[in-house]
Amino acid sequence: MPYSRIVLNSEQIDRIVTRMSRDIASAIDDRDNCLALVVLDGAKYFARDLLAKLDFPIETEFIKASSYVGTRSSGRVSLPDAEALRDAVCGRDILLVDDIYDTGLTLSRMLEWLRRGRANSIKTCVLLEKEVPHTQTVTIDFLGTKIDDEFLIGYGLDHNEQYRELPHIGVLSSDKISQTPPAYNP
Ligand code: IMP
Ligand code: MG
Repeated sequence: MPYSRIVLNSEQIDRIVTRMSRDIASAIDDRDNCLALVVLDGAKYFARDLLAKLDFPIETEFIKASSYVGTRSSGRVSLPDAEALRDAVCGRDILLVDDIYDTGLTLSRMLEWLRRGRANSIKTCVLLEKEVPHTQTVTIDFLGTKIDDEFLIGYGLDHNEQYRELPHIGVLSSDKISQTPPAYNP
């Protein structure tokens, strides 16, 4: 087992995601102008379940962001396909969907880019918030749950691109931590 401990099993995740989808559905006024922007790769599984549970169709775009190397944030966030999405976000009411609020660097970088790209409004939606002093403070409009500061895998969360497909979210067992992560390649 790659987990040393399960933090949220698939039923618990489902309950959280159902509650979040209801909160989002009742908070969005102009559904036609709303664009879900999903931060890849981590939020892929979460966003699929969350958006499918909404009681209205929502236009969706995906943006790749990466900052993690091994089990640590590199401190730099790259958005390699931001340029191609610039026109898509202009004037839209953005629902920004991400997996984890950890240092806050990814979310704050995304928010800065969306503001510069003249999004009409932005709401943030995050499954997990790590209870750590965030480097950048970000307002989370829709939060799944808070969690301790441990490195997690499963339900989209990876360690060097492994374990995303696992159904539960759990702590990565220490013997699975790779000592030689791939070089950071922005
Ligand atoms: P931040 O920029 O430090 O807030 O981190 C945000 C991104 O790092 C998240 O969107 C995740 O993709 C990734 N991340 C943070 N913590 C973990 C973890 O425990 N497991 C896997 N990925 C993580
Ligand atoms: Mg991410």
